[in-house]
Parts: sequence; structure tokens; C-alpha cells
Amino acid sequence: MTERYTHGHDDAVLRSHGWRTAENSARYLLDVLEPGASVLDVGCGVGTITADLARAVGGGHVLGLDRSAEVVARAASTHRAANLRFDVGDVYDLDHPDGAFDVVHAHQVLQHLGDPVRALTELRRVCRPGGIVAVRDADFSAMSWWPAVPGLQEWREVYLQVARANGGEPDAGRHLLGWAERAGLEQLRWSASTWCFTSEEDRGWWSRTWADRITATDLADQAIELGVADRELLERCGDAWTSWASHPEGCFVVPHGEVIGRP
Ligand SMILES: C[S@@+](CC[C@H](N)C(=O)[O-])C[C@H]1O[C@@H](n2cnc3c(N)ncnc32)[C@H](O)[C@@H]1O
Repeated sequence: MTERYTHGHDDAVLRSHGWRTAENSARYLLDVLEPGASVLDVGCGVGTITADLARAVGGGHVLGLDRSAEVVARAASTHRAANLRFDVGDVYDLDHPDGAFDVVHAHQVLQHLGDPVRALTELRRVCRPGGIVAVRDADFSAMSWWPAVPGLQEWREVYLQVARANGGEPDAGRHLLGWAERAGLEQLRWSASTWCFTSEEDRGWWSRTWADRITATDLADQAIELGVADRELLERCGDAWTSWASHPEGCFVVPHGEVIGRP
């Protein structure tokens, strides 16, 4: 299994991840999360969703885990609460006994993995019988936008190719139900939800993060290294993001699949 994290942890990436909240990215989980629950948030990144989950469970406790020591350190220094902890850990090999948590959550993680079913099987193992495993991932091929700036089609093509060359599945949202079934989870509930960017402010930051990511982060380096794009194509993709954002009718929809299952 070859697997490499497509986005890396450059500032443009972490800025974008830091916009996420439980409300805009884990509503389907908040609807069933009970106060007092113990929660494991795997692949927690900079931890904004994790910190919201800690607030939501009140007297419960939340552990955020990520493979990257760098983002774990950043999350731990940004979010402090008595019931919140961050640590380094790998989704394939969690250092916790069977059934250790009431709720196990992973947001935008499975799409980057070479073996999402093995990861889900490990998430199921550390969740108590009858508890909740909740996963949500974007679906890049289903993203849509207006106006139809041609360079954005090229951007998507570059992203899909790099993510797949890295062993991931960028259309993960539509695969979650099948993966969860194969991992042995039961009582599965699949739903979908979106991020929508249309105000001038939202278009501005969303386009800037992607313009930076496609021209100047690990994603750009990997695209060139893999022969998926040359510098000229990447600059065209970055310009397309700027052009899209300047359009007063601009809108962008990011669909996600989400699954709740029980061990
Ligand atoms: C797209 S980010 C999502 C971060 C966070 N869940 C959020 O939505 O803001 C994916 C995260 O998964 C982490 N990751 C990738 N592979 C992992 C693995 N095998 N085990 C644990 N974390 C992993 C990355 O380091 C990264 O921080």
C-alpha cells in the first residue's frame, strides 16, 4: 500500500482547515451526540472540529489524534479545555483497547487513505458496542461551480490525478456506505451535506486557499513530481481561482457523503 497525504501541512492548507467547525462540518454527528460521551476524533488536523465536539459533550471527554506531530502541537496550543486532549496516532493502528470510546469520528480523512476499509475496521474496534462511528468526506467529482471558468476543470483534473497517485480516493463521499458495510459496521445511515461559498468574503478566502494550494504547496510539488502538470498549468489553475472569485455571481458547492454506523 503506497499512501501519501496529498495536502501536506503548509499554511494555506491549515488556514482552510481552521475554518471548519462542528456546525459546518459535523452537523450529522451533533444531531446524535450525547452530553457525557467519550469521543475519539481521528485525523483531527488543527482541531477546530475536535474542540467544538469537546464543548458539545460537556462532562464527557474528547481525544484528537493525528499522524502529524506538527498539527497535533498546533491543535494542542490553540485549543485548551479540561476535557480535551490531542496526541499523535495512526488510524490504522490505534493505541486503545477494544470499545474504548462511545463515539469515533473522522472528517476528511478516509479519502486520503490507501485502505479505508482497514481504517474503518480499526475505528469500529475502538468504538463500544452500540456506540457511533461517524465519517464524512468530500466528493471532488461532484463539486460544482459557476461561472464555468475553464481553468477550474483543469484544477479538478490535476487534483484527482494527484490524490489517486497518492493512493487516495478523492470521490470518497460516494464510497462511504460501501466501505462502512465492508468494515462490518451496522445500522448504517448515509446522508449528504454541502459547503457553499458565494458571498464576496467566502469567495475571497476559498479561492485564495486553493490558488495558493495549487501553485505553492505540497500539492503543487507533487503534481510536478508526478508529471501530472507543469508550472504553466498550475499557474493557469491558480489564475482560474482568482477569476472565479471576482465574479459577482460566483458560487461553489462542495458535496460530502457522511455515514453513521454502529459496531
Ligand atoms: C484533510 S485533513 C482533516 C483534518 C480535520 N479532520 C478537519 O477536517 O479539519 C486530514 C488529516 O488526516 C491526517 N492523516 C492522514 N493520514 C492519517 C493516518 N494514517 N492516521 C491519522 N491521521 C492521518 C492528516 O495528517 C491530516 O491532518
